[in-house]
Amino acid sequence: MRKNIVAGNWKMNNTLQEGLNLAKDLEAALKGKKVNCEVIIGTPFIHLASIASSIDTKLIGISAQNCADKASGAYTGEVSAAMVASTGAKYVILGHSERRTYYGETNTILKEKVALALANGLTPIFCIGEVLEERNSGKHFDVVETQIREGLFNLPAEDFRKIVLAYEPVWAIGTGVTATSGQAQEMHAFIRKTLAANYGESVADDTSILYGGSANAGNAKELFSNPDVDGGLIGGASLSVDKFMPIVEAF
Ligand code: PGA
Repeated sequence: MRKNIVAGNWKMNNTLQEGLNLAKDLEAALKGKKVNCEVIIGTPFIHLASIASSIDTKLIGISAQNCADKASGAYTGEVSAAMVASTGAKYVILGHSERRTYYGETNTILKEKVALALANGLTPIFCIGEVLEERNSGKHFDVVETQIREGLFNLPAEDFRKIVLAYEPVWAIGTGVTATSGQAQEMHAFIRKTLAANYGESVADDTSILYGGSANAGNAKELFSNPDVDGGLIGGASLSVDKFMPIVEAF
């Protein structure tokens, strides 16, 4: 059975002290509450170890936002999947559109990152999504299918089962323009169909597919009510407990 997940993506926000406070405040808000989804926060690398040792990681899973495409060695400034795992983090966001656009991450590079993440016991939260021109020219299904095929379909089914997908239309990220509930469901159903064609119905049914892109307290309930939307990857609204908690509670 697939899980419902609400994952925050802090991006490049919060000093260590601010991040620790935010994580502790979120933990306090969740304590004693029965929520119907797994809660994850995706923090900058420098926060991972401190937050993982300061909060109950059964209540809030910890995720990195990236990892290197090499295992170790002379790659100045990079952080390996093994290093991420050694902090207590259990997840890693890979292939976010900001990484693809600003840092040149291709599906070929991402394939390496996914393999290293899995080899180190991390669950990749693998992001896919089209830009506006691709949607307007009717190429959005093809674009997303290619990202999945080139980034992930080399995996055997037992490894693919460890992947969480996040559909994030690039035109909806940080813009305040959310995909409509219908657009989200249509793409999520397409993604699940694509997974079923490659791995079979059981793998497709068991894969959590999150929606990301200007999701907030006002639209989360409607988005999450779709049969193929299993949660959200939340940027801006994950930076405050008051905005994040209602999304968690939308399930
Ligand atoms: P947003 O970001 O919620 O601020 O649109 C989502 C994301 O980039 O993961």
